[in-house]
Amino acid sequence: MTATGKPLLSCLRVSKHFGALAAVNDLSFDVAEGEVLGIGGPNGAGKTTLFDMISGLSPATSGEVLFDGRDITRLPPEAICHAGIARTFQLNASFESLSVRDNVRVAAYFGRDNRRFAGLSIGRQAESHAEEALAAVGLTGKDDAPAATLPVLDRKLLMLAGALATRPRLLLMDEPVGGLSPKETDHFMTVVTRIAASGITIILIEHVMRFLVQLSSRVLIMHHGERIYEGAPRGLISDRTVIDVYLGEGASQRLGKLMTEGR
Ligand SMILES: Nc1ncnc2c1ncn2[C@@H]1O[C@H](COP(=O)(O)OP(=O)(O)O)[C@@H](O)[C@H]1O
Ligand SMILES: [Mg+2]
Repeated sequence: MTATGKPLLSCLRVSKHFGALAAVNDLSFDVAEGEVLGIGGPNGAGKTTLFDMISGLSPATSGEVLFDGRDITRLPPEAICHAGIARTFQLNASFESLSVRDNVRVAAYFGRDNRRFAGLSIGRQAESHAEEALAAVGLTGKDDAPAATLPVLDRKLLMLAGALATRPRLLLMDEPVGGLSPKETDHFMTVVTRIAASGITIILIEHVMRFLVQLSSRVLIMHHGERIYEGAPRGLISDRTVIDVYLGEGASQRLGKLMTEGR
């Protein structure tokens, strides 16, 4: 809950139609301030489309998105960013020829607090937000490298730093560890744990179930644009529908073992 006693984010009966396809269908859920909500589900379930609606890239066909009690359903992406929502993407998105530091500076400059004065100079506040974001993901010291030269883990951390530099209250991450090795995934997990501990509310989409269940306080599993499960990560492994349409028996048993040994 926020200071106003409301959830930080509420999706109320949101739907997104592409022609006859309901990519997200009449979905409602709340996210409390400080929570980490994990979203899973098969390819094509509508997970990214949900993020596109929340972040304003592709507004809902119907339904409402409320952020701290304010209706943001039809706001453009930059207004949603300034309201305090940032996101990362499934595929890396950065300015290839700019340095690590300049990538994050650009994000800080366009982020929510920093555009007090029109012009090209980057103010001291944006500069310090960029520094903090780089430190938060552990990229300090690699600031001068052009983004294009970074290894894949660092590129993902850079995209995360860009999102953090906008000073979000809510951070959306779309498959952040896709393509990383188990060791790199562990590293990413410690970074996200630190970000969550700093008080930023997080929604993350991930197929890597180990990552999803260890970080999330609650999980939501989607299939064909609808919710098939919402609740504690632990409940996933005994949910028949989730096992049948998503996890399969083997993965569900491995996950059960991990949760028994892991925490
Ligand atoms: N811009 C679009 N135009 C038409 N169909 C789309 C568009 N974006 C996504 N879809 C469709 O919506 C469904 C959900 O896609 P998506 O949200 O990307 O799923 P997920 O992220 O869960 O894999 C898929 O069937 C996909 O093909
Ligand atoms: Mg997706």
